[in-house]
Amino acid sequence: MGNITFITADVTKITFQPNQFDLIFSNCLLQYMDDTELPRVVENILRWVNVDGHFFFREVSHLTPGLHDTFKNEEPCICRSTDTYNGLFNNVSIPVDGAEDEVYKFSLVAMNQVQCVKEAFSVEKDFYWIYKKIRCQRSDMSG
Ligand SMILES: C[S@@+](CC[C@H](N)C(=O)[O-])C[C@H]1O[C@@H](n2cnc3c(N)ncnc32)[C@H](O)[C@@H]1O
Repeated sequence: MGNITFITADVTKITFQPNQFDLIFSNCLLQYMDDTELPRVVENILRWVNVDGHFFFREVSHLTPGLHDTFKNEEPCICRSTDTYNGLFNNVSIPVDGAEDEVYKFSLVAMNQVQCVKEAFSVEKDFYWIYKKIRCQRSDMSG
């Protein structure tokens, strides 16, 4: 395919122009961000994705015995609760240029367990989220 660009980079350091992507997809990446990096990366993703574009991510919520115990001492990952991700994505926003009363934020489209992981490994703590970037009043920031 001639229309694919592959980039290998540190997501905490890479920059893109705002509103560049219809979809940003991440599979088990955010768990490698520490608590300082995570909100910055999420804010950047909100910046990079188009309005009405989507961010899909999947994360293992808390360590799952048998699956992640095997490497938890070797990998610097932080398995966060679903509430932590929900709270973070509810609260992140960026200003809209020229409209002081408005912000861009994420609106939840779907969140659920990853069914194939649940069925194959009986793992209950593997979740995906789909968020959409929306423009809204600053006063609408809750929910
Ligand atoms: C569990 S693997 C998932 C790999 C891939 N997303 C997949 O679905 O197969 C986590 C990946 O995150 C990458 N990673 C960790 N920290 C990163 C960072 N700061 N920037 C970019 N990638 C990172 C690791 O190199 C590793 O490839």
